[in-house]
Amino acid sequence: MTTILAIETSCDETSVAIVKNRQVLSNVVSSQIDLHQQYGGVVPEVASRRHVETVNWAIAQSLQDADLTWAEMDGIAATCAPGLVGALLVGLTAAKTLAMLHQKPFLGVHHLEGHIYASYLSNPTLQPPFLCLLVSGGHTSLIYVKDCGHYEILGQTRDDAAGEAFDKVARLLNLGYPGGPVIDRLAKSGNPHAFPLPEGQVSLPEGGYHPYDSSFSGLKTAVLRLTQKLRQESDSLPVNDLAASFQDTVARALTKRTIACALDYGLKTIAIGGGVAANSGLRQHLQAAAQSHNLYVLFPPLKFCTDNAAMIACAAADHFNRGHTSPLTLGVRSRMAISDVMQLYGKDEG
Ligand code: KG4
Ligand code: ZN
Repeated sequence: MTTILAIETSCDETSVAIVKNRQVLSNVVSSQIDLHQQYGGVVPEVASRRHVETVNWAIAQSLQDADLTWAEMDGIAATCAPGLVGALLVGLTAAKTLAMLHQKPFLGVHHLEGHIYASYLSNPTLQPPFLCLLVSGGHTSLIYVKDCGHYEILGQTRDDAAGEAFDKVARLLNLGYPGGPVIDRLAKSGNPHAFPLPEGQVSLPEGGYHPYDSSFSGLKTAVLRLTQKLRQESDSLPVNDLAASFQDTVARALTKRTIACALDYGLKTIAIGGGVAANSGLRQHLQAAAQSHNLYVLFPPLKFCTDNAAMIACAAADHFNRGHTSPLTLGVRSRMAISDVMQLYGKDEG
């Protein structure tokens, strides 16, 4: 059994967790949302500073919650890509320093591979291959999970990520940040068919549409135009109906692509990851569509859908079990394709 302490600081959550293979022993998550709310989005410099202030406490708390000592760790891991460079540097530097100090192997982890591993945490018997729909503030990807470290992107967004679309639409409806949870809540008492909205499709040069890629910027513009028109007609906006119609459109678009992809590639299991996986509309649409095609959908609990270090530790444990470790010269990267994950292990990047 492999015990890993991992640190996640790629965006606006400072998180430290200890995982034994696929079992979570502690998972401390300190969210910075309150701090960034006043700016309507994450301010990178502010995020880095808060990570610095919080990370030592989170490490100590994680060890205390798990009731373990450094001697009992097999390795120390941190998210190293993709994400905000300054924010990533805080967790990565802390992990490398601790690895050196306690003479433990170090592992850098790709953030999106972490999101995939959230499904293993809640379904310890899950085995690849399967399809992962990763929907977060920065990504909307359909990933063919072949094995630990081996991934192929089959579909992605050409513009805004799904979570970004939720956040932007919430801003134009004056609902604050982050937009996903509030739109989800308001949509529950709205009519999803009140306003027909364009789902957004990606044209192919040879004609027709890309079956797995999505595009949400047109949908966002359509909501903008619609709200401008409604504001001219009345003083009060039908916010619940707008939220429900927008959410339903995103959920249908993602469901259509995910099911088509799973069927075309013969993948029976679909795992969902990222903050938007918390969305109740998406969950309902996917569940219903999967059932009618005899596919199986895994929804990790919400605490593992949004950013957390337990999913990072779980990915690191799997790599460690295969003999993968990272050089202490490993740096952070703001962007990195998930198909390049194996670059993080074994080779000296310095
Ligand atoms: O995975 P995550 O915590 O952070 C990264 O982007 O990596 O995802 C955050 C995103 C935000 O855009 C937020 O609005 C969205 O997930 N989100 C939701 C819901 N909860 C969070 N979107 C739709 N419905 C939700 N219930
Ligand atoms: Zn994330």
